[in-house]
Amino acid sequence: MIRAFALVLGGLTLAGGIPQAARADDPEAGRKVATMCRTCHGIDGYATIPIAPHIGGEPVEYLEAQLLAFKTGAREHEMMSVVTAGLTAQQISDVAAWYAAHEVVATLPDGVSPDEAPQACVSCHGADGISLLLDAPNLAGETNIYIDTQLKAFKRGTRKHEIMSDIAAGLSDAEIRQIADWYAAVTLEITPVAE
Ligand code: HEC
Ligand code: HEC
Repeated sequence: MIRAFALVLGGLTLAGGIPQAARADDPEAGRKVATMCRTCHGIDGYATIPIAPHIGGEPVEYLEAQLLAFKTGAREHEMMSVVTAGLTAQQISDVAAWYAAHEVVATLPDGVSPDEAPQACVSCHGADGISLLLDAPNLAGETNIYIDTQLKAFKRGTRKHEIMSDIAAGLSDAEIRQIADWYAAVTLEITPVAE
């Protein structure tokens, strides 16, 4: 009896331990990881340098996918490839959860109508640059330098994505600049989600 009981208990502990260890994410642990990111992305995900994107309040799926892409080399960048090389899969899930656990508010400039937004982009990225999909990023308030760089990377094939590569291939440099300016003009506010 006692032995059977101990076995059951042992089994329970094990069963309880596995989901714990394999937990999808832990935003609080992610906050600690984010101290490695703050010089460029801020602790709240509001970027502090023009070549880095705002990542606070982005869908967790998108953030995690991009970090893994940098880590495996599917997406390359001199800074991010180095940063992600040093992160475990768990740290990536956690830090993605931390940044995703922020709220974003996007505001179009005074007097500008959402109807003027780039029509080819709004179905996924929204008129104000807040993504409508889990696997697409927010573009609101990103610098025009960042948006321009990414669209040209998709166009040249140095960054690849089944949807964005085709879309960017059809855009002229002038159109890219115009669209980048539209989303860059949006004011973005990022705040931590209240516990
Ligand atoms: C030295 C500056 C720097 C540091 C530190 C840094 N990043 Fe970045 N990050 C960048 C730059 C620059 C880019 C844009 C890369 C590109 O142009 O493709 C970027 C891109 C990203 C992206 C892609 C976002 C998107 O919209 O596609 C994510 C996600 C990201 N960083 C997360 C992190 C996390 C998490 C950390 C900390 C663990 C971190 N970064 C540390 C500079 C940095
Ligand atoms: C059908 C949905 C869809 C449409 C339409 C679309 N996008 Fe995207 N976009 C995506 C997805 C999904 C990604 C993420 C790509 C990846 O995983 O690398 C993305 C990524 C991007 C990025 C990279 C941003 C970052 O943070 O790194 C930019 C810039 C971008 N899109 C601009 C545009 C523009 C400009 C248009 C209109 C001309 C447009 N997109 C239309 C789905 C879409």
